Amino acid sequence: MRKKVTKAIFPVAGLGTRFLPATKSVPKEIMTLVDRPLVQYAIDEARAAGIKEFIFVTSRGKGALEDYFDHSPVLEQELRKKGKDALLQTLQDTNMDSGAIAYIRQHQALGLGHAVWCARRLIADEPFAVILPDDVIAAEKPCLQQMVEAYEETGGNMVAAMEVPKEKASSYGVLDVKEDKGEIVSINGMVEKPPEGEAPSNLAVIGRYILTPSVMKNLHTMKSGAGGEIQLTDAIAAELKGNGDVYGYRFKGHRFDCGSKAGFLQATVAFALARDDLRDDLSAYLDQTVEQAT
Ligand code: G1P
Repeated sequence: MRKKVTKAIFPVAGLGTRFLPATKSVPKEIMTLVDRPLVQYAIDEARAAGIKEFIFVTSRGKGALEDYFDHSPVLEQELRKKGKDALLQTLQDTNMDSGAIAYIRQHQALGLGHAVWCARRLIADEPFAVILPDDVIAAEKPCLQQMVEAYEETGGNMVAAMEVPKEKASSYGVLDVKEDKGEIVSINGMVEKPPEGEAPSNLAVIGRYILTPSVMKNLHTMKSGAGGEIQLTDAIAAELKGNGDVYGYRFKGHRFDCGSKAGFLQATVAFALARDDLRDDLSAYLDQTVEQAT
């Protein structure tokens, strides 16, 4: 029987320079979409997919991220005393089991592949998921859960995939499609950030992966690739040269690129409009603003 995917790596070591000056003191992953930090969306998605061990690859200056996962007994007691049950529930829903979270430091910014490799001892010989919290995916069934279900059928390695405009392909890992079966796509190769006009397709990798331990082994010997960084994409593509399988998975849902300011703002609006307590006020404001601008 296929081993269940119970471990996930969250690479969160990036400096977040696109969000300066905020990221001088706030890790990007703690910045909020409405009132939930980016990383909470990633954790919720992982939990829904059956992940039990959460491995954060961090760096200097990410203390607030570690603090975020502490329980807050004083705050909980205060809310209980005041009868603020809904808020208490919101808070308790974010509590993680003791020992479920591990933090590993990436000491040098050598790329996504290197960040994932930093967690090798905790992954050992098991399949694992990787979630990039910058990619926030709104979906009826959380994206990683969709992938875990598909992976139970296919095995191998699986990357989330989405069509992007041709001129944007050079910002992504891009799939060289072998056979397109709709939801599942088998591939001949993957290229990280291909030069403009050289992308093998416009099917891009989005930040959700289910990987075999063999990809971790590939990372041991991986040389730097695009942008002079050790690329996860290259270590996954190397599987195709051996006996490994790699599939693209076209997920159902809307992906927001919260690594960019425009994407972050769009996600903020979308998540706010999805909330009963904010929808009416916000949509009235948006209607009015659009009217004035046109
Ligand atoms: C990373 C991956 C890339 C993927 C992208 C999705 O790139 O290296 O293959 O397409 O995430 O968001 P980054 O955006 O970190 O440069």
